[in-house]
Order: sequence, then C-alpha cells, then structure tokens
Amino acid sequence: MTKVAPIDQRKADHIKINLEKDVRSALTTGLENYHFTHEALPELDLEAVDTSLSLFGKQLAAPILISSMTGGTSDAETINLRLAEAAQEMKVAMGVGSQRAALEHPEQAKTFQVRRVAPDILLFANLGAVQLNYGYGIDQCRRAVEMIEADALIFHFNPLQEAVQDAGDTNFAGLAKKIEEICKKLEVPVVAKEVGWGISERTAKILADCGVQAIDVAGAGGTSWSQVEMYRAPDEFTRELAATFVGWGIPTADSILNVRKAAPEMTIFASGGLKDGLDIAKCIALGASLGGMAGQFLKAAAISTKSAIQMMKLTKRQIEVTMFACGVGTLEELKVGKLVVEK
Ligand SMILES: Cc1cc2nc3c(=O)[nH]c(=O)nc-3n(C[C@H](O)[C@H](O)[C@H](O)COP(=O)(O)O)c2cc1C
Repeated sequence: MTKVAPIDQRKADHIKINLEKDVRSALTTGLENYHFTHEALPELDLEAVDTSLSLFGKQLAAPILISSMTGGTSDAETINLRLAEAAQEMKVAMGVGSQRAALEHPEQAKTFQVRRVAPDILLFANLGAVQLNYGYGIDQCRRAVEMIEADALIFHFNPLQEAVQDAGDTNFAGLAKKIEEICKKLEVPVVAKEVGWGISERTAKILADCGVQAIDVAGAGGTSWSQVEMYRAPDEFTRELAATFVGWGIPTADSILNVRKAAPEMTIFASGGLKDGLDIAKCIALGASLGGMAGQFLKAAAISTKSAIQMMKLTKRQIEVTMFACGVGTLEELKVGKLVVEK
C-alpha cells in the first residue's frame, strides 16, 4: 500500500464521508421561515430576468459560489477540475479547499490549480485562519494566492471542528490582530468564512474591524463538520465528543442577519445547507451577494463535469424563475427585502 501523509488521508476521508454518510446538522437553515410574495402579474419577460453581478473585478452570470472543498489528492484534483470546468462554462465563482497540504508538499499544487480549465472565473484561495498561530504569515498567504492565481483569499474559521478532532489545531487566541495584519498587507481581498456553524454579531464586528472585505457565513443547517469528525474518530472518547455537537451553530438565515446588523456595509456570502436556487434567492433577499453550496456540488462533480453543469444550470434557472414570479428583473431589486415575509 502506498504511504499516505496524514493531511492527505484527512482530505480523502472528508470526501468519502461526505459522499457516503449522513453528515447533516440537526438544525435547519432557518430559510424555511421565509417566503416570497408571489406576483400573478410580474410585468416581466422571464427571458429578460438578469441574474448577473460583478464582484472583486470579475463578472458573474449568477450569484452562485461553489464553496471551498478540496485538493491535495488525485481524486480531489479530478473533482476540482470538474467543478472548475463547470464554473467556467456557467460563469460562476469557485473556491478550492485548504491549500495547507500544497504549501507543505509543493508537488500537490497542481491538484488545486484549476486556471488551466477556468481562466476567467472568480476564484478563491483557502487557508485555515488558525494556521496564523502555527507558523503561517503573509508569505504563506501570498503563496496560496499565487499558487492558483486566485482573485481573493478565504480564511476559514473552524474552531469547533479543530476542537472535536484528534490532535486538532485549537489555539485560536490572538488571531484577530494577525488577520488584520494580513488584510493590510495582502494584495488581494481577504474573505472570512465559517465551515457550517455560522457567524454571530460579535464575530462579524471583530472581522469587520480586522478589515476583511467579505464574510461567508457558512451557517448551520447543512454539512456538520462535527458529524464528519465523528465518523473519522479514532476512539470512542473522540466519537462521543464530536457527536455532542450535531445540533450546534447559528442557522444560515440568522447568520446573514447578524452580519448585516453588526457590519451593514459588509459584502456577505451565504452558505451552509442551501439546497437550491430558491434558497440562494432567499439569501440574496436577506442581504447576501452570493449563495454557496458545497456538499451538493460535490455529489454532482463526483459523477461528472456534465452533472455539475446540469446542477448549476438548474440552480440558475431556479433563481431566475423565483425572481420572475416575484416580479423582479435584477438582483438589486431582489435585495429590497420587502419580498420576504416571516411566517
Ligand atoms: C468535502 C468537503 C471539504 C471541505 N473542505 C473545506 C476547506 O478545505 N475549507 C473550507 O473553508 N471549507 C471547507 N468545507 C466547508 C464548505 O465550504 C462549507 O462551508 C460547508 O460544507 C457548509 O456548506 P454545505 O452545507 O453546502 O455543505 C468543505 C466541505 C466539504 C463538503
């Protein structure tokens, strides 16, 4: 058997567990409490509905983000390339998974390098923020961005995931100052992102003060990383510890409102449990600029590029039909908020 480095094994486990096990949070996104007002006379041509936007200097055909997922192994490379081909075809945004493995093993860089098939997409690099407490600094951030010719760097914040895994990196003390430093020095925008437990008002305010240019709330209601870690646990103690948190976190809808309240000017990406274009449209109406999906796109890309494109086409059409049936022709109009009523 070939010897696999621990970080590669972890990446392989993540994909396998996400594809084969039920790793959903016990919470829901909260989006089910919101409804659009239907307009029987939209006074619009469906084909004139415009879902395009521009963000960080790139033009997108729809407010869709393929959330940061993978890289580091040859299976992960296949998934990244399929997702990137689909993103290029559909003109949507994409993030790669944590690039730590490739910084430590440069021969793995190619598993993250998707520009060869997606020269034009809005592309996000990805690193764990906590690594700034474990030896990383501006050099590693620059190398992650340059490695994939990214338009921006996403720092993921995953304290609970680190805390419930065996030998996780759990020193999150004093990180805000280091993030602020990177935001000042890095040549591209910095985005802060959770991984499925959402963002509180307090955290949003701290991140805004650090100078991040967008927050991806990655709220509760979808993939639960404590459940993923539960399936990876090497012993009963770790398994029980992880299982405790299946119902933890701030639902995605609440997280969007938290960020809006704490940092009204902040660009918001919504993710965590979004299942279709209608959910994305609800997030836009609540104040987000993009809606991201991870688990859903992973399942499609595990089949083929064609499946990933099909899923993106369906997601885009769901957004268009939602806007049409609400009587709005642009994303800006969808953001007015009057369209959303709480039950
Ligand atoms: C297989 C897999 C790997 C992931 N790896 C990363 C990662 O490396 N960095 C990151 O910021 N988020 C990572 N995530 C988290 C997602 O980007 C997302 O925040 C989370 O899964 C919630 O979205 P979902 O409910 O649509 O799956 C990963 C998700 C999946 C499914």
